[in-house]
Amino acid sequence: MDRTSITPDDIKRLAKDKGYVIIAHNYQIPDLQKIADIVGDSLQLAVHATKINTGKILFLGVDFMAEMIKVLNPHKKVIVPDTSATCPMAATLSREDILSAKDKYTAPFVAYVNSTLETKALADLVCTSANAVDVVSMMEEDTVLFGPDKNLASFVREKTGKNIIPVPGEHGFCYVHDRVLLDEIRTIKMKHPDALIMAHPEVHEEIRRESHFVGSTSQMEKYPEEADSEKFIVVTEIGMVEKLRNLHPGKEFFAVDSMVCTDMKLNSIGKTFSAISEERNEVFVDEELVGGARRAVERMFDLMRSFSVKK
Ligand code: 13P
Ligand code: SF4
Repeated sequence: MDRTSITPDDIKRLAKDKGYVIIAHNYQIPDLQKIADIVGDSLQLAVHATKINTGKILFLGVDFMAEMIKVLNPHKKVIVPDTSATCPMAATLSREDILSAKDKYTAPFVAYVNSTLETKALADLVCTSANAVDVVSMMEEDTVLFGPDKNLASFVREKTGKNIIPVPGEHGFCYVHDRVLLDEIRTIKMKHPDALIMAHPEVHEEIRRESHFVGSTSQMEKYPEEADSEKFIVVTEIGMVEKLRNLHPGKEFFAVDSMVCTDMKLNSIGKTFSAISEERNEVFVDEELVGGARRAVERMFDLMRSFSVKK
């Protein structure tokens, strides 16, 4: 088949024939979001991963998310369109950084889900951007080690009032969110003065402070319904902007054009079709790390359950 003529419907048919369920992150291109059985933020993907009945999964996102699906589905085949799609932030945190922080402070370590499997295996708890504040506020301790994202760590510190120590510190950030400058946002705001600003917590504190809403990608989906505005500036990866436009056709969304995660964009229609038709690019995880990583993720699920009971 000529790869350029492959349509989203061709992939859907092929996935059905081969018995694959398709899971995608919100930053995927619209055509890939279209073929997915579920599209969500990291938390929704993890929760959904515990409920999959079919034996084969095609995942559209980056490596740490695919690994998480595999950890929660050890006996299922998980494949991806491009094995080189990674999250560079995950690599900023090393085993040595975590061990030396644990040596220095007697405090639990919370791993942001955008991390390696080794980081999760060393963590007391895992969290995502959607539940980081809830997870940390539910913990008994007042001092918490948190990594790798220093900006999310600062958001959690502000919201919980706890002593959050970022590990590895200044070097832990997402290049897509951290490089956005407040001036860029102010320039967009000048063009659309009545637009509200919504931002992901991976952005700098100064942008967060000028934002009307800060939340995970899926929390951003709900905000336009409650907010008293028809216009929004979306300070996160541009894939999310298309999703918001489709979800809220009566409202206007303005993107920050520089916010492109090149790794998320490595996945394409052609590569997805090839991966399913040849059933290749399987995800494997280090068996020695799976147990520890899974425990830290399950503690997150336990905490979330007790949180919803208390609420
Ligand atoms: P969400 O969990 O909010 O979708 O974020 C994932 C991510 O990679 C942000 O850059
Ligand atoms: Fe990682 Fe940033 Fe891409 Fe999210 S947007 S996957 S944090 S590099």
